[in-house]
Amino acid sequence: RTQAQKSGPLAGRTCLVTAGPTHEPLDPVRYLANRSSGKQGYALAEALADLGAKVRLISGPTALRAPAGVDASFCETARQMNALVVEAAEATSFDVAICTAAVADWRPASVQDQKIKKAGKDDVPAPLELLPNPDILAGLSAPSPFRPRLVIGFAAETERVEAHARAKLARKGCDWIVANNVGAGSNVMGGPENEVVLMTQETVESWPRLSKEDVARRLAITVADWFSKPHN
Ligand code: CTP
Ligand code: CA
Repeated sequence: RTQAQKSGPLAGRTCLVTAGPTHEPLDPVRYLANRSSGKQGYALAEALADLGAKVRLISGPTALRAPAGVDASFCETARQMNALVVEAAEATSFDVAICTAAVADWRPASVQDQKIKKAGKDDVPAPLELLPNPDILAGLSAPSPFRPRLVIGFAAETERVEAHARAKLARKGCDWIVANNVGAGSNVMGGPENEVVLMTQETVESWPRLSKEDVARRLAITVADWFSKPHN
């Protein structure tokens, strides 16, 4: 599939997708991370491309192969992901940005050059000192010449999904939030299916449990529908 051949309801549209976890190193062999397989984000990149969009995927470490026809870049840490996103957003005025990445909220304050060694069998290292990572979604959502027309966040919640997602929508400044329940027993983390609530400023829509590919296709169609209508 080449750019020239693309047609479909998102033809001519540019989309940015973040996906996967970030890994925050502690020493050369250890890191702090969020759980994330990258499946939902990669499926979304593919679904947007299938509707004709030009897709830029910026991904943390996953076991997945980038979908065909998608321009992918890879990184490890939240700060690297943020730098790639900012660079991409400044170079391309994206029509839509969708942040599915499970970004680590904190990173170890210092990274040791050498492996931290145990002094003895009961030894534990000093308590971890952490620093906050940049909020990539909030940065994309803030008013700027580079703000995508439509900015969509994901919200992983383990309880009170709608209330937390509503608060997150306001706090982040994004346009839509796709909230999912990742609580114990949901089998969403790493699993093949997702059950989401799509929340905009005015609407709340609960979707049935679907494969991550079907959630991706439905969200891509919803985005295409939004762009097919006039917005000021
Ligand atoms: N996100 C981001 N950069 C961060 C943290 C989160 O871009 N440093 C994005 C995620 O990709 C997701 C959305 O923000 O689209 C919500 O992430 P989530 O972890 O659910 O929200 P937080 O604001 O980090 O709040 P908390 O973890 O406390 O629930
Ligand atoms: Ca978080």
